[in-house]
Amino acid sequence: MYCISMAKITISLIKADIGSFPGHSQTHPLILEKAAKMLKEAEGGIIIDSFVTHVGDDLQLIMTHRRGENDKEVHELAWKIFRTCADMARSMKLYGAGQDLLSDAFSGNVKGMGPGVAEMEFEERKSDPVLLFMADKTEPGAWNYFLYKMFADPFNSPGLVIDPQMHDGFVFEVHDLMEKRKIRFRTPEEIYSLLAYIGAPSRYVIKYVHRKDGIIAASTSTQRLSLIAGRYVGKDDPVMIVRAQNGLPAVGEVLEPFATPIIVAGWMRGSHHGPLMPVGLCDAKCTRFDGPPRVICLGFQINEGKLIGPGDMFDDPAYDRVRGRVNELADMLRAHGPFEPHRLSLDEMEYTTLTVVEKEYEKRWEPIPE
Ligand code: 13P
Ligand code: 13P
Ligand code: MG
Ligand code: MG
Repeated sequence: MYCISMAKITISLIKADIGSFPGHSQTHPLILEKAAKMLKEAEGGIIIDSFVTHVGDDLQLIMTHRRGENDKEVHELAWKIFRTCADMARSMKLYGAGQDLLSDAFSGNVKGMGPGVAEMEFEERKSDPVLLFMADKTEPGAWNYFLYKMFADPFNSPGLVIDPQMHDGFVFEVHDLMEKRKIRFRTPEEIYSLLAYIGAPSRYVIKYVHRKDGIIAASTSTQRLSLIAGRYVGKDDPVMIVRAQNGLPAVGEVLEPFATPIIVAGWMRGSHHGPLMPVGLCDAKCTRFDGPPRVICLGFQINEGKLIGPGDMFDDPAYDRVRGRVNELADMLRAHGPFEPHRLSLDEMEYTTLTVVEKEYEKRWEPIPE
């Protein structure tokens, strides 16, 4: 048993918005450099390998190690880097410096303290392709649609039909972010029930996908900052790890759902619906109306814990058409101005700054006589 667990590798993808320039558009290169240096120093000790990047204003730490999920040392390392980078951001007067760090003291795990976390522990296969997705200006439930397409829709993933190793289907673990409870749905037999929940992505979020024999296939971040902080502090800008090939969806099956422009919650002030645009690293900055919401994907092969790569997966003319369609949808939604459905529905707006405005008018409302 000991040998097996020694052989297991963990990928930790931990992110935070520690400040950006200008406004909420992108992480500063000096911050990326600092974070990368600090991770390099930890290689050979706490971690095996690392990679630092950003999408929009979110600093992304990718780490591999053999310490399992929720490891105190790994989380503390990430926390230290975020704190150092937030201090740097303050000294540069970057915007929203320290935005996602909700506490001063580390308490053993960064979960619940602001940063977003997706982790996955597995036994390395003969060849193990892994895709890391990182999004800005949206929320964790944004992955629901894409995960469903990858792992439960044979029109997206023919492997579900023709690969005997995938043919039995997958198990989706769904978290209820309001009630803090979880449930597992087996697919294909329970897809209608699964959809009944995950179609409401602001509340129900897919946390893990496993193959029916127990192999881990996908892991996401589920932190919702406003639910932790009790007030609007920026969107939750989620991350996701997906393993591919050899009994799991092929890399192309994992990427294919992003060729459709899907509307997600987030964008300006975390209060608007907008289309999610897949982009390469060079376009991983938010501009128009602080967006539109963006997603990047880095692909690696894992070799004894080393990250071989990355491949910049959406840096490809094959995604030009979806980007064009996203721009058209963005125009259409922007034309609504402050009206729904561009603006989020009222119950979602509860978690924004609108409540402060509403408070002012509470006393001016009069009852309408019968
Ligand atoms: P694997 O069965 O090796 O994952 O290959 C599937 C494939 O051909 C990808 O297009
Ligand atoms: P972030 O959640 O990415 O910091 O964006 C906040 C915002 O208000 C964008 O308009
Ligand atoms: Mg920000
Ligand atoms: Mg952000």
